[in-house]
Amino acid sequence: MPASTTNDPHGPRAAEQAAPEAPEASEVPAAPAAPAEAVTPLLRGIAVLRRLTEADGTLSPSALERSTGLARATVDRVTATLAHMGYVRLTGRDVTLAPRAAELGNAYLAALRLPSLLSPRADALADELDESVSLAVADRDAVRFIHQATRRRAMSLSFRIGDLLPAERTAPGPLFATEWTDPDWHHWRARRAADPHDTAFPAVPPSDHPAPDEDFTRRTTRAAADGWALDDQLIEPGLVAVSAPVRDPGTGRVTCVASVVSHTSRHTAAGLRDDLLPALLTTVAAMESDLRTAPPPEPGPVRAGLAVWTGASKHELGRSFVESLARGLTVLTAFGEGRSALTLTEVAKATGLSRATARRALITHEYAGLITPASPADRTFALTPRVLSLAFPPLSRLSLPQIAQPHLDELAARVRESASMAVLSGPASADQPHPRTRHKTTPYEIQYTARAATTRVLSAHITVGARLPARTTALGRILLAGPAAPDHVLTDGEPEAGLRSLAVPVHDRAGRPVAAIDVTTHAARRTPESCAAELLPALRETAAAIESDLRTAGRFRTVPPT
Ligand code: PHB
Repeated sequence: MPASTTNDPHGPRAAEQAAPEAPEASEVPAAPAAPAEAVTPLLRGIAVLRRLTEADGTLSPSALERSTGLARATVDRVTATLAHMGYVRLTGRDVTLAPRAAELGNAYLAALRLPSLLSPRADALADELDESVSLAVADRDAVRFIHQATRRRAMSLSFRIGDLLPAERTAPGPLFATEWTDPDWHHWRARRAADPHDTAFPAVPPSDHPAPDEDFTRRTTRAAADGWALDDQLIEPGLVAVSAPVRDPGTGRVTCVASVVSHTSRHTAAGLRDDLLPALLTTVAAMESDLRTAPPPEPGPVRAGLAVWTGASKHELGRSFVESLARGLTVLTAFGEGRSALTLTEVAKATGLSRATARRALITHEYAGLITPASPADRTFALTPRVLSLAFPPLSRLSLPQIAQPHLDELAARVRESASMAVLSGPASADQPHPRTRHKTTPYEIQYTARAATTRVLSAHITVGARLPARTTALGRILLAGPAAPDHVLTDGEPEAGLRSLAVPVHDRAGRPVAAIDVTTHAARRTPESCAAELLPALRETAAAIESDLRTAGRFRTVPPT
């Protein structure tokens, strides 16, 4: 099953094969035609999600028109459908990926299970060494990241979860290649010949002087003998990495590769091997032992009826809603922990789709390289790593303020007052997570992290980054309460005469308050009663919408609070 974006016939333009609007697609020589049963609108939706991902999350409709070869009316219907699903936002003139779209990649990562089982060890190693540590899986002849424990440092490129790298320019690559078959090697040579500068890998700088194929075959032979591999600035000057394979306890095959990544200003490649490889090998041994002793996966409750769109009438959804696209994407979310291999019957049951509809969606996803037959014997299907090429990398970088901003904008427009988000900062931040007992004596502050101002001019000129004493603000009083954050807090005349502020907490996946949002108004405009009656419901809905996005975006990584 071809699964990298580079070399397979399902490359960027394959989806347009089935699109009557795109006659130029016939110029792509190697692409096989879509099977007759493939669902054309689903292929178009996948193409739009991929182009948005390659463009780092945002494109105008006309740029989408150009890059997909679809007609404008088609682009508009596809993006309207994705917007209805919460996968994109249509803001001003742009189409932007929204956090909800991360549920596609989450389905793959949950089904794979490796991130939940192994990332605690990767994170601990990153802390121990104070260097970035990553986990990657093979994606045919490429390498795709499934976890990143990143150190924020200058002078090095760092990759995102879902980014795809050509195997030969990485340290994990030769370790995976020790298991390649002849067709895999053939496929790899053909890809290099067709794209010597790696233009099909948007995450890496183009290779100006491609190394000869023999370099990689030699590195693979060495990796097989050594059990580890190095990357000495193969991606860019300065970037070095050392990698070791994590083997599946059942099959003994390489299930993923763990890497320690550094910069030549701190370590040479040889230094990485001498100084950090021992700690990496110790961690990998512990990871393999974790895999051996892991309890069986827990498939959550049966998820019947995922496809909520099927119940809604055409009228409710609007004429531009393309049901077959929404249904098809929903099929991907039927997979998850304990549901890594599903039969057609199980997919139909989990999604609430008819067998015929689910079958056509599976055929379409298989053609697009997103689903592969898992076990021909029991006729099951599984997601491929390529699912991460749908929206995941840009969304895996979002911070809490970025997640909150569109919701604050909406809130401010709705209530016609300014809305803000803040976090607690001060002596409590890192080592004293529960400042409650100390707030009477220590000067905790809040720091504004996002803001949506209305045209009404307030006396408080609060900007992002501004700090105020926590005790004088509604936001601060929420945050000072720590885990026992109250539902809402209203302040009157603080921190300035005439200001009224109503704040509610924003909780993370674990239910901890990580930030607070507020609406600020002027005493002359609203009584305390009208604040509670008119602002509170909108404020609570906004907090719930931010929390929902945060749960999806933060399922497999820590979302930075600032
Ligand atoms: C990374 O995790 O960013 C990484 C890993 C291995 C490489 C290069 C980069 O060879």
